[in-house]
Amino acid sequence: MNNAKPTARLTTPTDLGANAQKDITGALNALLADTFALYLKTKNFHWHVSGPHFRDFHLLFDEQADQIFATTDVLAERVRKLGGTTLRSIGDIGRHQRLADNDAAYVDPQDMLAELREDNQRVITALRETHDLCDEHNDVATASFLETFIDDAERRVWFLYEAGRRGDPTGH
Ligand SMILES: [Fe+2]
Repeated sequence: MNNAKPTARLTTPTDLGANAQKDITGALNALLADTFALYLKTKNFHWHVSGPHFRDFHLLFDEQADQIFATTDVLAERVRKLGGTTLRSIGDIGRHQRLADNDAAYVDPQDMLAELREDNQRVITALRETHDLCDEHNDVATASFLETFIDDAERRVWFLYEAGRRGDPTGH
């Protein structure tokens, strides 16, 4: 009978050390939960957007949701490569996410753009903090894809910002 914790089997060997493993996988799991929350909110707005810019916003949200979703597997597998365990369910996402859900029956399209922009900005902040953590532990592989994710998220913020402008040359 093996008395070791069942999760001991999932401890992939890594040369980064126990502290790095704990700190980085913890940060990545929180990022993963936020990423799923942002994915579903973006899809929610894709499904429920209404009004004169329907086609533009509907398509923009879908494109962004696809991009967000594509990062989830990279984050989760990185946690496993570092010997950690990752999220297992919708409930697990709910326990780890820091972004707020939006279950409102109706959201104005301009408010959708603003909310997604703020959420993506929060994700960028978390990505930068996690990148700093990776630098501290010399985890260049995680740092490398986080740089790409930051660029992707900045592009989403840019598009959400421009799509929300109302044609007034002085601003909004
Ligand atoms: Fe769709």
